[in-house]
Amino acid sequence: MKVLVVGGGGREHAIVKKIKENKNVTEIFALPGNGGIAGDAVCVNIGAKEIEKIVEFATDNKIDYAVVAPDDPLVLGCVDALEEKGIPCFGPRANAAIIEGSKVFSKNLMKKYGIPTAEYEVFDNCDAAIEYLKTAPIPTVVKADGLALGKGVIIAMTRDEAIDAVRSIMEDKQFGKSGDRIVIEEFLTGPEVSVLCFTDSKTVAPMVSSMDHKRAGDNDTGLNTGGMGTVAPNPYYTDAIASECMEKIFLPTVNAMNAEGRPFKGCLYFGLMLTPAGPKVIEYNCRFGDPETQVVLPLLDTDLLTVMQAVTNETLADIEVNWKDESACCVIMASSGYPQAYEKGYEINIPDSIWDKVYVAGAELKNDKLLTNGGRVLGATATADSLSAAVEGAYSLVKQINFGNAYYRNDIGKKALMATMEE
Ligand code: AMP
Ligand code: GLY
Repeated sequence: MKVLVVGGGGREHAIVKKIKENKNVTEIFALPGNGGIAGDAVCVNIGAKEIEKIVEFATDNKIDYAVVAPDDPLVLGCVDALEEKGIPCFGPRANAAIIEGSKVFSKNLMKKYGIPTAEYEVFDNCDAAIEYLKTAPIPTVVKADGLALGKGVIIAMTRDEAIDAVRSIMEDKQFGKSGDRIVIEEFLTGPEVSVLCFTDSKTVAPMVSSMDHKRAGDNDTGLNTGGMGTVAPNPYYTDAIASECMEKIFLPTVNAMNAEGRPFKGCLYFGLMLTPAGPKVIEYNCRFGDPETQVVLPLLDTDLLTVMQAVTNETLADIEVNWKDESACCVIMASSGYPQAYEKGYEINIPDSIWDKVYVAGAELKNDKLLTNGGRVLGATATADSLSAAVEGAYSLVKQINFGNAYYRNDIGKKALMATMEE
């Protein structure tokens, strides 16, 4: 069986490594992949947004199954285009990917169907937004409507900051057309939890919960990044909270999408905040999270491709999705300077003995050497019986990997470990 994975980051490397475990898989292609993914799949230099070329490649190469991982191609209709050629896919069609593609859509969906989320207002006019901010509760959160490379959310601690955020999004078009409309919403507090769910639009199978570490520096200081590390499961996410989320958030969301004529099939990612008033949705993603995937998939006991195919065939209810009773920790190694300017081109040394635990995000192969080529370079994941052992394991992996200008946080898992101790 020939499988195609669209995308080229650490998340895609984790998906490729897991799919490889299936004995029926004879070949995996990654478009575009990266220098590290090339160790596990055939990488083809076609960008994740080049839908026509992806479809052409898939038909020419008689691909049996495609996994579309990143948000952009999903929102652009990559799954629709592949399915039109008869290629079964994992991932939502464009009309369902809008749950991530438009924050106005997702906020209105939650309001209409009574799904708990922050109070909000929508604006398509800069002056009206600024007028509203003159009396709005502060702190407040300003969000660009469309995709903005994960940077379209601004938490404003003062009124002036909020007004500046609105101007930069709506007037200066910091995020281009994504900022034609904005959402201004209530600032929520509480521990954050990421819950990725497999869903075939009928059944919801939540994955192990996880915790991201978004800020660049230790103790959550510095700029926001794509994520500097993750742990799973998230100790704040108790069984009682999980049941509440299933009843009040996960099933109502999937049912709401069906009611809107936009059945969601794929991985639906719930970014939750456990507020004093109960769990609320901070954001939906229409895809696997990065670097959540790098801790969640290593804990999956059931064959990934089998689960994905059950999602495609709408037979998720017929299979069991089992998880290891273990913990995982992923530490991201980045290029120093990230998320701002950084140097690249340094050789990466990863011992063969730990290759299966390493997920490469930003690297290229040149003359058989793996060189740094991105902000987030790779992630190293350890699994163990306890969270503390997983954290220790991940840092011991990191110590065995080296490249020039490497930077990583030293406190991944610290907050989670403290929460375990409070229990
Ligand atoms: P991003 O991953 O760029 O969408 O950033 C979203 C992050 O902004 C979340 O992980 C939260 O930490 C924060 N955030 C988003 N919405 C709110 C909110 N209403 N209240 C407090 N924090 C928020
Ligand atoms: N780690 C957050 C995301 O993938 O959006």
